[in-house]
Amino acid sequence: MPIDVSADGRVFLLSTKSMSYACCLEDSGLVAHLHWGPRLPSVEELAVPIRWDLSPNDPVAQLTPEEYPCHGGFRYKQQCLAAELADGTRELDMRYRRHEVRGDVLVIHLADPIAGLGVGMYYRVSEDLDLIARWTVVRNEGSESVELTAVASAMFHVDRRELAVSNVHGIWGAEQQPFRQPVGYGKVVLESRRGISSHHHNPYAVLDSGATETDGEVFFAALEYGGNFKVVAEPSPYGSTSVSLGINDYDFSWPLAPGETFEAPRVVAGYSGTGLATMSHQLHRYARRLMRDDRSRPVLYNSWEATGFNVTESNQRELARLAAPLGAELFVVDDGWFGNRASQLDGLGDWCVNPGKFPDGLTPLIDEVKALGMAFGMWIEPEMVNPPTRLYAEHPDWIHHTPGRDTQTSRDQWVLNLALPQVQEFIFTMIDDLLRNNDISYLKWDANRPIAQVGADPSVWHRHMLGVYAVVDRVTAAHPGVLIEACASGGGRIDLGTLAHFDDFWTSDNTDALDRLTIQRGYSLIYPAKAMRAWVTDSPNFLTGRAVPLPFRFHVAMTGSLGIGMDLRKTSDSDLATATAMIETYRRIRPIIAEGDLYRLVGGLDQEYWAVLYVHGASAALFVFRPVARIGRRPLHVRLRGLDPEATYRYRIDASTFEHTGTYLMNHGIEFSFYGDFASQLVEFSS
Ligand code: DGJ
Repeated sequence: MPIDVSADGRVFLLSTKSMSYACCLEDSGLVAHLHWGPRLPSVEELAVPIRWDLSPNDPVAQLTPEEYPCHGGFRYKQQCLAAELADGTRELDMRYRRHEVRGDVLVIHLADPIAGLGVGMYYRVSEDLDLIARWTVVRNEGSESVELTAVASAMFHVDRRELAVSNVHGIWGAEQQPFRQPVGYGKVVLESRRGISSHHHNPYAVLDSGATETDGEVFFAALEYGGNFKVVAEPSPYGSTSVSLGINDYDFSWPLAPGETFEAPRVVAGYSGTGLATMSHQLHRYARRLMRDDRSRPVLYNSWEATGFNVTESNQRELARLAAPLGAELFVVDDGWFGNRASQLDGLGDWCVNPGKFPDGLTPLIDEVKALGMAFGMWIEPEMVNPPTRLYAEHPDWIHHTPGRDTQTSRDQWVLNLALPQVQEFIFTMIDDLLRNNDISYLKWDANRPIAQVGADPSVWHRHMLGVYAVVDRVTAAHPGVLIEACASGGGRIDLGTLAHFDDFWTSDNTDALDRLTIQRGYSLIYPAKAMRAWVTDSPNFLTGRAVPLPFRFHVAMTGSLGIGMDLRKTSDSDLATATAMIETYRRIRPIIAEGDLYRLVGGLDQEYWAVLYVHGASAALFVFRPVARIGRRPLHVRLRGLDPEATYRYRIDASTFEHTGTYLMNHGIEFSFYGDFASQLVEFSS
């Protein structure tokens, strides 16, 4: 049974394949955590703890590891819900009211009749994915309006201290840099205040006490939300650690009229007793199921690094003619095709085809791209507007702004307020027209600056995000065949909320293959390769100046969703031939990368070698990298994982063919000895 309730109705046990999660109704009327960890056989073995004040300074409400602590009473710890009531007070006292089981969903209702608020805590059990999802609905059951000032999605507890929290840090061009640090004392707060999930941290928490890729317990939770988020890990002095996730309460408030509800975004959570790799497998499977479109993602060519803003019909045709024979399946025209767009200064908002660049519209280019056997894609940045545009002249009140203040630009642009229905309508109509009038199969939806200066209404941050989701959902409902890539100045919008609405992520503007090893490793902890766009671009790299050989660049990009961003007009014939062979290989192994389980065998900034393995059914693909030959160098002896021990796998390394059992490959492994810098190898296995 995925959901078990004890005979006295006070203990709730949720079980997946290998995890159990339990909470209970305590004598205080509070609903508290009981278990998060390995699977338990029966709900009846769990007992409701009895609590009493440890001291006047350690009261029961503070001691109880509540599933959803609300502001009020003797609570001095991190809380999930805070509100300003009609009389100006903020005291809440949420106690258990009732529970119900609806299929694979348990709902526990809390209520505070004096405040007139009800809270529904929702738990969905995904037995096969080994995960649970939690979300919360707050309802105004009173007769007066209430202002919600904090609504986290959920709080989780681990029954121990001395945990470390892992996440990523970053900046533009260096997103997804993994880190792990002790929770220590006080709180660890990871958040975004930028209106996007951002390049800087990511909306999830991973807690462990010394787990490796293959061993140890890992407790993890990821928020399905791409706006301002807050993750708080807090050790309790009473021996446990809590972690809450949700919309950031920074500059947040939400009016709730009588009868209205507010739904906080979903959190997906799980437990692995076998290290980080299992966590990633579970989350990758979940994420792939979350994705709207299960088609494999096309190998694309994107012209951004080749032509920048200077796109013209003729240079795009030239690039398309060069991209098609390489095996590219999709040709994407990036920024610069519209309005008065010659640079970042102008054009955003005026979404008509630039007649100087495309005198006969887009059709001749699209026809040629299609005749070349590729699908056609376009870049848009619909949330933005440049000051000199007609859109701004006609609708100056559509941008986020604070009356009486200068509205500052960033990248010479402002952000449209997608909380406004008329802005949503404008953007939907613009995209709908673009897709109706042109044979477009792919959109890259960019957002090159964070939101700021939102004016008087602090609900606008969240309303903007809901506006984005509403428009994207409307577009995909009207044009289900079109794939939409989420991009925010590189990887500023990588999160499960975005993935529930978009089909692809642009991982980073940094396409330097060496830097990408780190970025993509951080990304892979939570997110699946299927949604991780990785381009092969020119060498030396425009951002880092580093020269990296083409096979290494390809191998790094082939561990994600392959794209080409080179200026093919300058590419030598021999590099074009290499690219053609690499793309052919990628297309063959794409299902293994996109749908397989990923094993991070070796890697990290302190490592000489990096190796990642993807296993899908009877096939596997191993990538090995050695960026720099070091003094006293040693070969890499790498043991594979996740293979069928009984199966015999065939594989080739250079000109030699091998046959070995899964057991041999996992227990003994393969030795790689490389010569020179930026050495790399792809090995394909089939059984
Ligand atoms: C930022 C993106 O990350 C790039 O790939 C490119 O689309 C530019 N914006 C275009 O302005």
